[in-house]
Amino acid sequence: MPHQEKKTLWAVSDLHAAVRLNRDRINQLQPESPADWLIIAGDIAERTELVLAVLAQLKQRFHTIIWTPGNHELFSRSTDRHRGRDKYQELVEGSRNLGVLTPEDPYPVFNGVTICPLFTLYDYSFRQEGLSVDAALRQAEQAKVVLTDYFSIAPFVDVRAWCWDRLAYSVKRLGRVNGPTILVNHWPLIKEPTERVFHPEIPLWCGTRHTRGWAQRYNAQAVIYGHLHIPRIDIYDEVPHIEVSLGYPREWQTRKSNMPWPYPVLTEGMNS
Ligand SMILES: [Fe+2]
Repeated sequence: MPHQEKKTLWAVSDLHAAVRLNRDRINQLQPESPADWLIIAGDIAERTELVLAVLAQLKQRFHTIIWTPGNHELFSRSTDRHRGRDKYQELVEGSRNLGVLTPEDPYPVFNGVTICPLFTLYDYSFRQEGLSVDAALRQAEQAKVVLTDYFSIAPFVDVRAWCWDRLAYSVKRLGRVNGPTILVNHWPLIKEPTERVFHPEIPLWCGTRHTRGWAQRYNAQAVIYGHLHIPRIDIYDEVPHIEVSLGYPREWQTRKSNMPWPYPVLTEGMNS
């Protein structure tokens, strides 16, 4: 007898697995069906070994895992063997060995919707109008409001140049997709969500103005992102932008959000 089996595409981000209490949350992350997929929109951890260990653990439970890096995956020290672009490459190769899909792989299709993991970084263009990049960064330094990126990513790569390379790469690939999409990125694709963070300097590290309009242009049914640790859904130009972060225990333990976590992005009934 044929029966309907539900298959779900789930999304999470900002698992921050180096934190012990977050490990418990990751251990509890289970699919409803072995056919379920999981999007992880960055910030699994800082050390490559831990990022890949978490991906390996979750790949055993979910049929398909789609990963895109956050800033924490890119952190390194001057003594590390892989830094900057090289560290990203190391993570991509490690993910591929596990069968995990990355922004460098063909985009998978779930129930007729193309899932597009992006990695567009930031270029300090989410800054106060009239300020140069240097002046905006100096101001943030003086206010003592800088992200760890400042010490753990910026010394090892020209972040702006990398961001622009990523934009060119992503536009080229997205332009070839037909039909509806889900865009996945660690950083939000529009500035509005970043205006909710407490310090006005933080958006400098939160995205790029060049991705504005992508949701509509590339026929997105939804945009999935993380980074801000403020889970919520905002509709811009009729497209839901959905933050799916876990974040740190001090955040998720006190959060008053009615959003489900993991977040069910799409479901598909299967005839069998
Ligand atoms: Fe994070």
